[in-house]
Formats: sequence, C-alpha cells, structure tokens
Amino acid sequence: MALIIAVVNPKGGVGKTTTAINIASSLAIIQRPTLLIDMDPDGACAIGLGFDPSAIHGGVFDVFTDHTSLSTTIHQTSLPYLHFIPTNVVTSDHESQFAEVAADRRLMRDLLRGPVADSYEFVILDCPPSLANVTINALVAADTVLIPVNASQFAVKAIIRLIKLIRILRDKQANEKLTVAGLLVTMHDKRTRVGLQIEKDLRDMFKHLVFDTTIPINTRVNEANYKGRPVVTYDVNGAGSVAYMDATLELLSRVGKTPRRRSDVALGHRNVAHD
Ligand SMILES: Nc1ncnc2c1ncn2[C@@H]1O[C@H](COP(=O)(O)OP(=O)(O)OP(=O)(O)O)[C@@H](O)[C@H]1O
Ligand SMILES: [Mg+2]
Repeated sequence: MALIIAVVNPKGGVGKTTTAINIASSLAIIQRPTLLIDMDPDGACAIGLGFDPSAIHGGVFDVFTDHTSLSTTIHQTSLPYLHFIPTNVVTSDHESQFAEVAADRRLMRDLLRGPVADSYEFVILDCPPSLANVTINALVAADTVLIPVNASQFAVKAIIRLIKLIRILRDKQANEKLTVAGLLVTMHDKRTRVGLQIEKDLRDMFKHLVFDTTIPINTRVNEANYKGRPVVTYDVNGAGSVAYMDATLELLSRVGKTPRRRSDVALGHRNVAHD
C-alpha cells in the first residue's frame, strides 16, 4: 500500500505545488514509484509538469463527479517512475461542483484504498490554499501531512489552524492515524535578517516538526515552474534542486522509509534523460 502524503497549507503561495512536484519528481528520480495527484482546481501541477491542456484526458474532477475510474485518469510524465492525475476542473461551474461533491470527505480515501494506489510506493496530494472540502478530502485520505511554509511571511495562524484541523480529524476518528511529516521552510533567503528570524521563530515554536533542510529562494525554481519542468530535472546541480533532493531524503527518514544515500540520487539522475 502506498504512503499517502498531503501537501497542505491554507495560506496561498507558500510553495505547495512547487514542493509537491519536486518531492514527487525526486522520489521518481531515486526510482520510487510515485503518483502525484493535483487536488487544486487551479490545476497548477499540470502547468508545472509541462502538460499541454490538449494532452489531458480526465482528472480528479471526472472521478469525483462522473464515477470515471481513477486508473483511466493516470498520465505518464517525462520521468518513468512518476505518474500524474490532474484536477481537470475547466469552468467555474466545474469548480463549484467539485467543491460540492467533495463534501463527502471520504471520496479520495475510498479511491486510494482501491487497486490504483497499490502500484505506487508514494502518493502525493497537492492541495488548494484553503481548509475547505477538497483539502479535508486529502487530509482524510492521507497518512501524513507535509506543510510548506514561506520563510518570507510569518503566517503562523494558518499553520495552527491546520494543526488543529488535523487533531480534530484524528479525535473524531475521520483519520486516526494522520501524522505531520513536518514543516518545510521554502523560499528562504538566508541573507536577510527577516528570513533567519522567521526560521528561528518556526523552530522555537514547532521544534522537531521543522525540517532541517530548507528550500532557498532561487530564480531557477521559479523559472523551472514557468517552463513546465521540475527544478530537480531542470537545474540538477542548482541550489533549489539540491535542496529539494535533500528535503526528499529527509522526508523519507521522517516517515520511516529508508532514505537512499546522496550517491543513489546522483545515480538516479544519470538514469533520467535531461534536455
Ligand atoms: N524556492 C523558490 N524560489 C523562487 N520562487 C519560488 C520558489 N518556490 C516557489 N516559487 C514561486 O512562488 C510562487 C508560488 O509557488 P507555488 O505555486 O508552489 O505555491 P502554492 O502554495 O502552491 O500556491 P497556491 O496556494 O496558489 O496553490 C510560484 O510563482 C513559484 O514559481
Ligand atoms: Mg498550488
């Protein structure tokens, strides 16, 4: 059975999609079969992975509203070990319909208990910037939550709201086994006093929950997103790419999976075609 990781923060623009794409891609590079599912109606994962809209055949929207089978919505990415399911929300009517059907908060959990998830070691769920129905669906389905936190905004309230919701879901037995894999500091500018102060405050407040690895603010990360490429394949030796690989190895040890060594990452990279 796959380990299901929801990437969640109700605050917008904190690096959820970038983190979901690059952690999923890093896992694929080290040959761990991974399925990335976009739960955000804005569909940014498809753009970040370089999908032409005309190449998209079905997604979570169709599965939620139309009983389309999950397996028919799986898309192959440019990485052999990474598969992808888009949201495929196209119109604003779709968007409200999607939110409505997601009121049944067990939809994604039930889908991922089926045979599809068994073909993967990891399923990564990229969530929208809210704690509404769609995110709750992801939290009920997940084993663990990865919380990206933008180091340039001190947005602790959003994290506290999320951690409270996780507790409620556990206490009300909607998902008793849900854990927090950790808080990953993103877009970190270590040259600024405010960046360092925010990192320190987060570590003081959330202690061991904060990843040792931080993701630097790095123009190549932004550029890779814009060009529809995971930065871990676009700028292999760049600071953003190396940090996402390190964060992936740290995530593996945090969730009790054996991390491969850095040398295995290099080996994985050699097996992937870069252009
Ligand atoms: N490490 C980074 N360095 C520079 N830019 C980054 C970095 N990480 C993300 N970005 C940029 O920041 C913006 C927000 O990132 P992203 O879309 O991943 O956030 P999000 O939390 O998914 O946003 P939303 O809440 O809208 O879904 C994007 O333009 C992305 O390219
Ligand atoms: Mg996003």
